[in-house]
Amino acid sequence: MSIPTHSAPHTATLTDRLGRPLHSLRVSVIDRCDLRCQYCMPEEHYTWLPKDHLLSADEIEQCVAVFSQLGVQRVRITGGEPLLRAQLEDIIARIAAMPSIDDLAMTTNGMQLASRAADLRQAGLRRITISLDSLHRDRLEQLTRRDALNRVQTGIEAAAAAGFESLKINTVVMRGFNDDELVALIEYGKQVGGEIRFIEYMDVGGATHWSQAQVFDRQAILDRLERHYGPIETDGPQGPAPAERFRLQDGTRFGIIASVSAPFCGSCDRSRLTADGLWYLCLYASEGRDLRSRIRAGADREELTDYVRSTWGQRADRGAEERASTPARSALFQIDDLRQDPHREMHTRGG
Ligand code: GTP
Ligand code: 5AD
Ligand code: SF4
Repeated sequence: MSIPTHSAPHTATLTDRLGRPLHSLRVSVIDRCDLRCQYCMPEEHYTWLPKDHLLSADEIEQCVAVFSQLGVQRVRITGGEPLLRAQLEDIIARIAAMPSIDDLAMTTNGMQLASRAADLRQAGLRRITISLDSLHRDRLEQLTRRDALNRVQTGIEAAAAAGFESLKINTVVMRGFNDDELVALIEYGKQVGGEIRFIEYMDVGGATHWSQAQVFDRQAILDRLERHYGPIETDGPQGPAPAERFRLQDGTRFGIIASVSAPFCGSCDRSRLTADGLWYLCLYASEGRDLRSRIRAGADREELTDYVRSTWGQRADRGAEERASTPARSALFQIDDLRQDPHREMHTRGG
């Protein structure tokens, strides 16, 4: 009997050098965005990925199939803003059809969601997360540099009506900007049936104006909410997902993503693919692995699988933990660094 050496369905769990499995893949389908959030894209001009570098729907499907063969069960579609990608529903339907992918989610800014939510659900998208940082129209306009509130809220309502398995709302909390809205956001989440997740402002990619002083951290968020709602309980042990979940006395659940004050690199089972086919092993990684060139040079599934397997086996990244121990921490990049390599941008890596 011949023993297959390549591409056999994974039997033993693939782990990296720190024992972390490869279970989750974030797939950015486009780097462009129709908002300009200050914590992500504060500058006037950006260097975009060349259009002919973007992976086609076939190439994305090919990549996801390789990852799923190596143990990835959860896929999250990201951007830029994924709804700006042509053929998005087609891409979703192809991934949804893969039997070993049992969780397919998307993070969106919600701007185009009102007319698309039902089609996305129909295509096989199971969970959706929408970013909403303020319930004040003028504040959100100042943050995103677009008059966004009404459109995003209409998008959230459409998502709620489309019957996703889960609806979450992401809020990046910035001291002195929206830290007075935590209760209002929780109440808004209750009203629309969405779980609010408060995210600490991170010093990633395009956050060129980041400072530690603007981080409203996990403890400050909990203190503020406890003053209003009374004691808050933790909601079960934290899995590999970045959000730690909590429960109010009335049963309302919410999450906190404490990437700055309590990084979770130890349980990180995720990696990310950019829209032009670079594979990043960490949100903070300086270099990606070029899957696009391999595919376009004719690599078949076996070769790609072997490459991904051996690369993950060597992984030892702990980007957020390393940042946390950086003395006198300030913004990771300035605009010239970002222009040299747009892959450093959060909107290229997909958050
Ligand atoms: P769930 O599957 O619902 O848990 O989604 P998610 O929280 O992984 O995805 P989402 O796109 O909503 O990301 C929420 C926040 O977590 C964003 O600010 C991301 O940048 C941050 N985040 C996502 N992945 C990572 C990661 O690998 N490391 C760190 N440090 N932060 C991450
Ligand atoms: N800090 C924290 N979260 C950020 N996001 C983008 N930039 C930052 C940052 N500097 C979030 C977006 C979105 C998710 C994908 O990443 O708000 O919800
Ligand atoms: Fe805002 Fe997301 Fe667009 Fe960045 S990619 S500007 S966080 S909506």
